[in-house]
Amino acid sequence: MIRKIALTAAATLALTGAAMAAGEGGHVHDVDFSFEGPFGRYDQMQLQRGLQVYTEICAACHGLQYVPLRTLSDEGGPAMPEDQIRAYSSQFEIFDAELDDFRPRVPTDHFPANDAVGAPDLSLMAKARAGFHGPYGTGLSQLFNGMGGAEYIASLLTGYTGKEKEEAGSIFYENTAFPGGWISMAPPLYGEDVEYADGHSNSLHHEAEDVAAFLMWTAEPKMMARKQAGFVGVVFLTILTVLLYATNKRLWKPVKKAAKES
Ligand code: HEC
Repeated sequence: MIRKIALTAAATLALTGAAMAAGEGGHVHDVDFSFEGPFGRYDQMQLQRGLQVYTEICAACHGLQYVPLRTLSDEGGPAMPEDQIRAYSSQFEIFDAELDDFRPRVPTDHFPANDAVGAPDLSLMAKARAGFHGPYGTGLSQLFNGMGGAEYIASLLTGYTGKEKEEAGSIFYENTAFPGGWISMAPPLYGEDVEYADGHSNSLHHEAEDVAAFLMWTAEPKMMARKQAGFVGVVFLTILTVLLYATNKRLWKPVKKAAKES
C-alpha cells in the first residue's frame, strides 16, 4: 500500500515537473495598482496618462478596436469631459459608407483598429494575459498579490535586456517577461517618451505602469461596478445566513424542549 502511494507521488512529481518546464513563462514583477483588492478603484489621472502614452506611442502599431471612444467619459474610468473626448475622437478618421468618404471619428465610434506590422489589438490584452503566475503556475499570485495582465504588460515594457538577434529576416529583442524570452516588438518605451500635463514622473517605470493600468481599464471597464456588486452580495448573504440561523433555532426550540421533557 505504502509502496503504491509512494510510486503515485513520485509519478505526480515527475509529471508536474515536466509541465512546469514546458510552460516556462517570463518573469513578471508585482505592482501595487490602485485597482487591486476588494475596494480597489481605477486612478482617473493614471488612466488619462495611460491614454496619452497609448495615443502617442502604442497607437502607431496597436489598435483598440473594441473600445468605444465615448466610454472615456465613464465615471470610474478616465472620466474625461465630453468636449475633450469629441476633440480627441476627431483626430482619427473612419470610412463612412453613407458619405462614401472618410470623416473624423465621433465619440460614438470606436478607437481605430490597427494591425500594422502584425501587432495584436490591445483592447482585451490585459485579460488575455492574466496568466497563471505563482508557484507552479497555480495562479495563487494573482489571487493573493493581485498579479495579472496589468503586471504582465508593465513587466513586458520594462523587461527588455537590450540584446537583439536576427532570425529568418526578422529582428527579435530579448525580454525577460515575454514567454520564450524573445519578442518581435522593439522596445516602445525608454522613459521621457511623453510629457505629462499633470507633471507626473515620466520615467520608464511610470509610463509602463500608466499604460498598463489604462489597458486594464480597456479590458475591464466595469471592474469597479463588479466589485461593488460582489461586496453587496457578500454582505447580503451574511445577513441572510444570520437570520436563517436564528429562525431555524427558534422554529425548532419547542420541538427540542418537548423531546427533552419526554
Ligand atoms: C513599432 C510597432 C509597435 C509599437 C510602437 C508598439 N508595439 Fe506592442 N507589439 C508590436 C508587435 C509587432 C507585437 C507582436 C510581438 C510578438 O508577438 O513577437 C507587439 C506585441 C505587444 C503585446 C503582446 C505581447 C504578448 O504577450 O503577446 C503587448 C502587450 C504590447 N505589444 C504592448 C505595447 C504597448 C503598451 C505599446 C506602447 C507603449 C506598444 N506595444 C507599442 C509592435 C509595436
